[in-house]
Amino acid sequence: MDKFVIDGPARLEGEVLVSGAKNAALPCLAATLLTAEPVRLTNLPRVADVRTMQKVLGHVGARIDAERETATVAVPEILSADAPYELVKTMRASVLVLGPLLARAGSVRVSLPGGCAIGVRPIDFHLAALRKLGAEVSLQHGYVEAKASRLRGADIVFETVTVTGTENAMLAATLADGTTQLFNAAREPEITDLARLLVSMGARIEGAGTDRIVVEGVESLHGSDHEVVPDRIEAGTYAIAAAATRGDVAVRRCRPEHLRALTTRLTAIGADVQLSGDALRVRAEGALPAQDVATAPYPGFPTDLQAQWTALATGLDGVSTVTETIFENRFHHVAELVRMGAKIRLEGRWAVVEGYRLTGANVMASDLRASAALVIAGLTAEGQTTIERVYHLDRGYSRMEEKLNALGAAVRRVT
Ligand code: EPZ
Repeated sequence: MDKFVIDGPARLEGEVLVSGAKNAALPCLAATLLTAEPVRLTNLPRVADVRTMQKVLGHVGARIDAERETATVAVPEILSADAPYELVKTMRASVLVLGPLLARAGSVRVSLPGGCAIGVRPIDFHLAALRKLGAEVSLQHGYVEAKASRLRGADIVFETVTVTGTENAMLAATLADGTTQLFNAAREPEITDLARLLVSMGARIEGAGTDRIVVEGVESLHGSDHEVVPDRIEAGTYAIAAAATRGDVAVRRCRPEHLRALTTRLTAIGADVQLSGDALRVRAEGALPAQDVATAPYPGFPTDLQAQWTALATGLDGVSTVTETIFENRFHHVAELVRMGAKIRLEGRWAVVEGYRLTGANVMASDLRASAALVIAGLTAEGQTTIERVYHLDRGYSRMEEKLNALGAAVRRVT
């Protein structure tokens, strides 16, 4: 039950290095189940969710040699093709073992993830895709049970763009008999990164990063070495924090081209944004005008940066409207920001934010990105802010307080 204690306001200045992407590391770890040979993953973020996925893999029978940002995973044999409730309840993304286990072992039993703070988040599109690939799928006692002697290639049309749904179908289709086409596929950079790993393991995949992905199934896959793509959401979080604190921060070891939806808006509010190679520099000063954002699947404005933008909008001049189109319940940070003096009106999927000076307060984190928003608010607020339950933050941000303090902030972790 760690807390963060933040003394504000702060002006962030300096350089910060971005870690590997959590949302690429998780499907890449799940992909190791597709081969009996070792897969070495580097640039893994040192966050709780990666450790949870390693636990799930260990439960299935993987041997994992992990050190700092590197892990070599070998699954010579699937000892138990299941992901128990105890593990899945701590991390929904555990459902990413469904596709690879079914493809490799021919049967799988995975706990249904259940809802989470930001929405109901069903996995019906995942299951529909596996059924299309020829699997028998049933729900028993809170578990998904699926089996197929060998999956068969098929055309799959996703009703709604789904990131992990696209990943599960792509993972399963790599060992299917025949060709699979995924239509209305998600285009996130994490999907392109997963496809890059799978192709390096011998898979035949085309179109990753577009809305039509073609997977030609193969008999087997082999081992490989793969460097996980940088975390665009972590990079975006620091970029927004730089603007919110009217600072000057160079975010390094990132892929600025993955953040165009954000950098265009930072430029629109008058921040000086410079992109060069693997670095993104954000400088801001004085009064900045309000700016509306609406979340959308990639390459639109990421829902995983919505809360952080809402925190920034509390310090912009005028009224910003923040529209959340992906998840039905992703405004938990609003009530906590209001505790800090923010003027925000919630109307269904809209948060109407009127710029106003924040003051420090005791607030509670409810989910990963809401926690990051409260940290940004604490950095801009007058006085001391205490954020409880930062375990949410540790799920997806590596050593945040150290990185912020190196930029001139005053953040203490109280254990
Ligand atoms: C991924 O979640 C990310 N998680 C999320 O990041 C991210 O917010 C989300 O994509 C959207 O970008 C990982 O990659 C591990 P979706 P995912 O399936 O795949 C509905 C973070 O903060 N839907 O793209 O679970 C769903 O309810 C996390 O790092 C169905 O109805 O999201 C949502 O409204 C939070 N049925 C929409 O589609 C399904 O079978 C998009 O969800 C699947 C999804």
